[in-house]
Amino acid sequence: MKISTRIGIVGAGPAGLTLGLLLQRAGIDCIILEHRSREYVENRTRAGLLEQNTVDLFNELNVSGRLQREGLQHHGVNLSFDGMRIRIPFDELTGGRCITIYGQQEVIKDLVKANLERGVPVYFEADATRIEDIGTNSPKIVYTQNNETHVLECDFVVGCDGYHGISRSSMPKDSYSEFVKEYPFSWLGILANATPATDELIYAYHERGFALHSLRSNKVSRLYLQVENNEKLENWSDERIWDELQIRLSDSGNFRVNRGEIFEKAITPMRSFMIDNMQHGRLFIAGDAAHIVPPTGGKGLNLAVADIRLLAEAMVTWFRKGNNDLLGSYSQDCLRRIWRAQDFSNFMTYLFHKQAPHGSFEYYLQRSRFNYIGQSKAQATTIAENYVGLKDI
Ligand code: FAD
Ligand code: DHB
Repeated sequence: MKISTRIGIVGAGPAGLTLGLLLQRAGIDCIILEHRSREYVENRTRAGLLEQNTVDLFNELNVSGRLQREGLQHHGVNLSFDGMRIRIPFDELTGGRCITIYGQQEVIKDLVKANLERGVPVYFEADATRIEDIGTNSPKIVYTQNNETHVLECDFVVGCDGYHGISRSSMPKDSYSEFVKEYPFSWLGILANATPATDELIYAYHERGFALHSLRSNKVSRLYLQVENNEKLENWSDERIWDELQIRLSDSGNFRVNRGEIFEKAITPMRSFMIDNMQHGRLFIAGDAAHIVPPTGGKGLNLAVADIRLLAEAMVTWFRKGNNDLLGSYSQDCLRRIWRAQDFSNFMTYLFHKQAPHGSFEYYLQRSRFNYIGQSKAQATTIAENYVGLKDI
């Protein structure tokens, strides 16, 4: 079957669903194709940290009712190294900006509901298999649903289909360069029915490796441990995980992690990935399809939403005024923020992960970098403003 719309969107993650709402608000028709089921995308556990910019956009789109009620605003973050702790106060250093803790799967539930209520078609279990004719004015997405092949004809295709999607590889190979950095460690992440032992997040360097204490609510804790690449989950009993978290987060011996039933456990590899061009002809790509940052600093979801804010504005300008300028500069406009987030995520990763033996040259550099945060308001401000998200860049 052949159908048509103005904008064909591949992927119902944070990027695709936010784009759907921005286009709907501007009266521009679109269709979102998502190869997983609604239930699957609404329950996929991932990020949890929303920057001020992301929350501002969700407020503007009127999709933040539950986020305002259930999200937890944090006005500071704790950084710890070998048991020494520094608190970074956002209010004082960023003029009142803050972060909000709210699980990505909750964001997805809110965005799916709003898209469907506002009449944006979201086709679940619709697998995009090819993107064609991007060099013409009527690009097409070929997709399969219920074992039938369909063609979606549109004015533009937007690839919001994540790192493993098909959109990036639908651009000609010579239209972009790739940058890849694999890190020599992974994260073991858990969700647990345990009262968080901290009000604000703790990022900790320990000689046994990095640990992060985050949370989802006042009853659910989210915690992460640095583990070896290729580590197997079956080597990590619940007891071993809690013991290790207790050791790595213990500070000067006083801090107690609250234990509880672990209901989710997964290991995620860490990588930085970039391409230097996010558009070709009538195909634009956004979010994880174009860039991956290591999770230290919680930038992935926020970058995806930031790309989309620029792309939606460019598309609305094109449809309303026939003006091509913003579409033409889309990649360059996004890349400034993406490179900044790549650098910040890389900085946070190297500051807190164990990479070299305790007492080595690298270790002392790491420790000196940490100490400098406590000594210099300028350095603390740099961390604070990158962490809550730069407003304009
Ligand atoms: P995605 O959320 O990946 O959405 C892409 C969508 O496209 C998916 O729903 C997918 O099913 C769909 N899709 C793919 N291919 C097709 C196709 N051919 N046809 C139709 N649909 C398709 N970030 C943080 O900040 N902190 C974290 O702790 C964190 N943890 C993470 C853990 C994991 C396991 C992963 C994978 C990512 C994590 N991230 C984290 C990153 C963050 O979740 C992503 O940056 C964010 O989801 C990006 O949004 P997106 O919309 O670009 O892509
Ligand atoms: C979370 C994940 C992160 O990568 C991070 O830097 C902060 C918080 C989280 O899942 O809550």
